[in-house]
Amino acid sequence: GKVAVLLGGCSAERPVSLKSGTAVHQALVNEGVDAHCFDPAETPLAELKTQGFDRVFIALHGRGGEDGVMQGALEWLGIPYTGSRVLGSALAMDKIRTKQIWQSMDLPTAGYRIIAEPLDEAEAADVLAALSGAVIVKPACEGSSIGMAKATTAAQLTAAVADALKYDPQVLVERWIEGDEFTVAILGDEALPVVQMRTPHEFYDYDAKYQSQSTEYFCPCGLSEADEKALQVYAKEAFDAVSAEGWGRVDAMRDDHGQWHLLEVNTVPGMTEKSLVPMAAKAKGLSFSELVVRILAQAKV
Ligand code: DAL
Ligand code: MG
Repeated sequence: GKVAVLLGGCSAERPVSLKSGTAVHQALVNEGVDAHCFDPAETPLAELKTQGFDRVFIALHGRGGEDGVMQGALEWLGIPYTGSRVLGSALAMDKIRTKQIWQSMDLPTAGYRIIAEPLDEAEAADVLAALSGAVIVKPACEGSSIGMAKATTAAQLTAAVADALKYDPQVLVERWIEGDEFTVAILGDEALPVVQMRTPHEFYDYDAKYQSQSTEYFCPCGLSEADEKALQVYAKEAFDAVSAEGWGRVDAMRDDHGQWHLLEVNTVPGMTEKSLVPMAAKAKGLSFSELVVRILAQAKV
């Protein structure tokens, strides 16, 4: 049958999605699949039906594509699609809801405050003090580190919250974790080999993810076998906890005392040739094309 690779869309991560979708499309064509790119920002979704597509690979990142909206529309159209269903997509897109669920299950995640209004400097000083003096500010529902900033002073926190509120009415202010950052790709029921990311930047920001030549990736990740296994178990529990399905990626930090702190779940992680899930798959002996075909094979409605 005919496969649509959904890409582009209207979120702040549109440029990343265009890259992911183009790479996925190319891989499918190389594998002999009758695949076509389909940009929901340019073509009404109902045309999937009239153009005779019978399966969809979702390569959309961020709002309107990764958050359950597109998944709900495809359910309604009755077209099988890859990855998480409506609920898992919506929960995983929301970093606050994700953390609340993890906390209720005693999964490790850093302390935080939920902020929905600009903070004056006195309020910001209180929030900072409550979270040990250093925080990272994140719009609740964004990706690729868009709208994120570190703050260690009240003035910085006031500014960071004001900026994050431009992206989302809810902002997560999370205790800063000093340590190393790791990610775990999930494929089907399996956690793939762990990848460690290292950047000279203050954190793994947009530039470190997509532009910088100075970001380093390690797979094998440098953890002991027991520690890697422990993180894989946490990651799978964290993924299941938000009802994510099919494939995805769980990000986590390990602090300087060796404690784990889960960050978030991505239900449509980046799929450029340089992205993290393809890197983990390669360590498992799966080429980019094989990975894409495996994800597509799980498409359902
Ligand atoms: N949100 C980006 C695409 C990622 O998680 O890879
Ligand atoms: Mg994300």
